[in-house]
Amino acid sequence: MDKIRIGMVGCGGMCNGAHVPAYLKDERVELVAFCDIVESRAVKAKETYNPQAKTYVDFNDLVADENIDAVDICTPNYWHSRIAVAALKAGKHVFCEKPDAVSPEEALKMKKASEESGKLLMVMRNNRFVDASKYAKRFIDEGKAGDLYTGRCGWIRRRGIPGKGGWFTTKELSGGGPLIDLGVHMIDLAVWLMGNPTPVSVSGSTYCKFAETDISNSEHSNFGEKQVDGIFDVEDLAIGFIRFDNGACLQIEFSWASNIESEAAFVELRGTKAGFSWKNGNLKIFSEDDGVLTDINPVFDKSNGHQNNLKHFIDVLIDGCEPIYKPQQGLDMIKILNAIYQSAASGLEVRL
Ligand SMILES: NC(=O)c1ccc[n+]([C@@H]2O[C@H](COP(=O)([O-])OP(=O)(O)OC[C@H]3O[C@@H](n4cnc5c(N)ncnc54)[C@H](O)[C@@H]3O)[C@@H](O)[C@H]2O)c1
Repeated sequence: MDKIRIGMVGCGGMCNGAHVPAYLKDERVELVAFCDIVESRAVKAKETYNPQAKTYVDFNDLVADENIDAVDICTPNYWHSRIAVAALKAGKHVFCEKPDAVSPEEALKMKKASEESGKLLMVMRNNRFVDASKYAKRFIDEGKAGDLYTGRCGWIRRRGIPGKGGWFTTKELSGGGPLIDLGVHMIDLAVWLMGNPTPVSVSGSTYCKFAETDISNSEHSNFGEKQVDGIFDVEDLAIGFIRFDNGACLQIEFSWASNIESEAAFVELRGTKAGFSWKNGNLKIFSEDDGVLTDINPVFDKSNGHQNNLKHFIDVLIDGCEPIYKPQQGLDMIKILNAIYQSAASGLEVRL
């Protein structure tokens, strides 16, 4: 294969803002179909990006299209597993936006469908694909950090509830609030840098303090569709603690709204030879050399993690290189998030 024919499902913010722009830069990709339950969105995408493309309103029709090699899913979270499983069973490769699925059961179905069909399943992990993360991963894999035994990660927004009242804040469609929306980014980055240890237990608390208030918006509030008088039955803050089979642990914190100084997305890891601070895509490394404390501040150009991740998907399909993402990692991630919700509800630690 030297060209991958892609069918897009879900023609909203991420499709138009990240996936299609990345594919348009890759001459190995042909965008051959667009599907959205709001037909006008699929038609607009076709007219904008490829007038020869087909349009669909039902994803079942798109996955049955014989002229499609891979399906790219940019729908609300509830649909990820449903569309991915249908596409894999129809013999298509799948690239799916994060989070992998809204429950461990659904994530497992995706993994099984990929194994049974022999088709590639990759879920967006854009933060692994920025230069700071790649540098940190190399540093760790070369043994320069020593034993990574503890860390903290989070994404705390001062203001930034996405699509208030719409699918983002409706548990049935999203699977949860900032824990599933943002947690999947930073917990994944931390766990990947730590070498993917297996989670064994979690503890957590969640809060919803801003659903009924009229707090101000931020750029993040424009994600998804808002709905006046819609549903808001998810948390706006989640705090937690994860233990792994190798003895390591991770503290976590995710919010869409918090009265804090400023927004930060971060991963801090501590190793026996060096520690890391990854903050908003910038990296610092803390160590000691011959009795002298040393800081390394590598400087990177701004890298586009989404574009790099989508290019990696095409590289795997065309060149056969090893995928950086494995469906088992997605399943482990959704198990962690689900168990934190269970722990928050019961007030007890949950064993995985
Ligand atoms: N990786 C990132 O940085 C990042 C950032 C934002 C959002 N996301 C993820 O991207 C996904 C999409 O988010 P968005 O902001 O683009 O949402 P959006 O609401 O802007 O777009 C979703 C689109 O999907 C369509 N849709 C809904 N159900 C469908 C179905 N069954 N079949 C076909 N189309 C359907 C909607 O009509 C809408 O056009 C979400 O899973 C979200 O978590 C990822």
